[in-house]
Amino acid sequence: MAQTELPDVNTAREFYSKYEPKEILGRGVSSCVRRCIHKKTQREYAVKIIDLTDDNNRISEELRNVTHNEINILREVSGHAHIIELVDVFETSTFIFLIFELLKKGELFDYLTEVVKFGEKQTRSMMRSLLEAVLYLHSQNIIHRDLKPENILLDENLQIHLSDFGFSTKFDEGHYYSELYGTPGYMSPEMLKCTVDENHPGYSKEIDMWACGVIMYTLLAGAPPFWHRRQMIMLRRIMEGQYSFPSPDWDDISNSAKDLVSRFLTVDPKLRVTAEGALAHPFFQQVEDTYRYFVKPFHARRKFRVAVYTVIASLRMFLQMQKHRPLRFVIAAGDPYGVKCLRKIIDASAFRVYGHWVKKAADQNRATLFENSSRADQKRLLDLEEAAGSTVVNNGLMISPISSTGNSLFAQTVTS
Ligand SMILES: Nc1ncnc2c1ncn2[C@@H]1O[C@H](COP(=O)(O)OP(=O)(O)O)[C@@H](O)[C@H]1O
Ligand SMILES: [Mg+2]
Repeated sequence: MAQTELPDVNTAREFYSKYEPKEILGRGVSSCVRRCIHKKTQREYAVKIIDLTDDNNRISEELRNVTHNEINILREVSGHAHIIELVDVFETSTFIFLIFELLKKGELFDYLTEVVKFGEKQTRSMMRSLLEAVLYLHSQNIIHRDLKPENILLDENLQIHLSDFGFSTKFDEGHYYSELYGTPGYMSPEMLKCTVDENHPGYSKEIDMWACGVIMYTLLAGAPPFWHRRQMIMLRRIMEGQYSFPSPDWDDISNSAKDLVSRFLTVDPKLRVTAEGALAHPFFQQVEDTYRYFVKPFHARRKFRVAVYTVIASLRMFLQMQKHRPLRFVIAAGDPYGVKCLRKIIDASAFRVYGHWVKKAADQNRATLFENSSRADQKRLLDLEEAAGSTVVNNGLMISPISSTGNSLFAQTVTS
């Protein structure tokens, strides 16, 4: 079993001199994974501590060899965007320490438990990344042999990183394997058949594609395709490829998604879709833009520039709106001089007519000239004028009426 106590300082001086181990992130059969801090840079990493001793305190050379194989494969696949990055390795007589990049969102399995199931859009994004990683492994003649949501880790942007190469192996084209590896629910029919039929030709890289089918089915439905509480029945179902798309879980899922799942879960490995074939499937050809949006790298300066332009544009729109507010008729008719644009026109017209501004005395307001109802005194003056048929001098101003109709007063004002 994986040890949860930390190895003592004397047995792992080199590791402790560089890293400070923190809380446990996960556990495997013979390993314990912890968060750790690189002392010099204060950066966070994950350390997989593999205890090579068994219950009787004997060192397992087999486990050491298996771990060396894992390290070699990890080093070979290093640099792929969707494969975990091995950063450093320390080895003592009883422990091996593998330092990995820290994947803060943990296992896809836990994330799936949290959200129950994914929509097609998110499944498409995750499956595309997984298939790109698997395609790369197969092109390097590597079979993973333990693909499952527990071994797919997520970073802060929910991008997947394939991990746990403990069961991985290099394969030669045309060479077939018969050993049982992996986790029952994800094992392929041909791998299981090897255990019941000693004349079975064996399995190769196609087992990873079967596991991809189980993963995709589980992501879309929130439940695995072959599960039964009695493991024997589940294994029989796998060997016979007995699964369905039950209602209501699958009612809203597209035919292209179902078609791709069934191409993964094809019992005959020769007819099963390859990683390359799956990536060319119509399921991945649709809504290409959505995918591009998902993987678009974050550019701080570009984002900031867009934000600045947005603020400037909204400010300009706001100011333009303020400047050219729609003018309501009641306002224009009731108080035209109170409206800035009309005031300008009125002033300009007045200037043209009189050759100067009409305001002469301190107690006189130009706005009164445009009032719709005449003041009592103005009315009186007009009445007087009408009666006399002449102009009247008032406060140094000569007012000669042009016409006076109802509420509207059209007055011509001239200087004396
Ligand atoms: N780099 C990492 N970042 C965060 N968690 C990790 C990391 N590596 C492993 N883990 C956690 O530790 C668990 C066991 O690691 P894994 O490599 O799968 O070991 P095992 O081979 O023993 O299954 C993972 O399922 C995951 O929960
Ligand atoms: Mg694991």
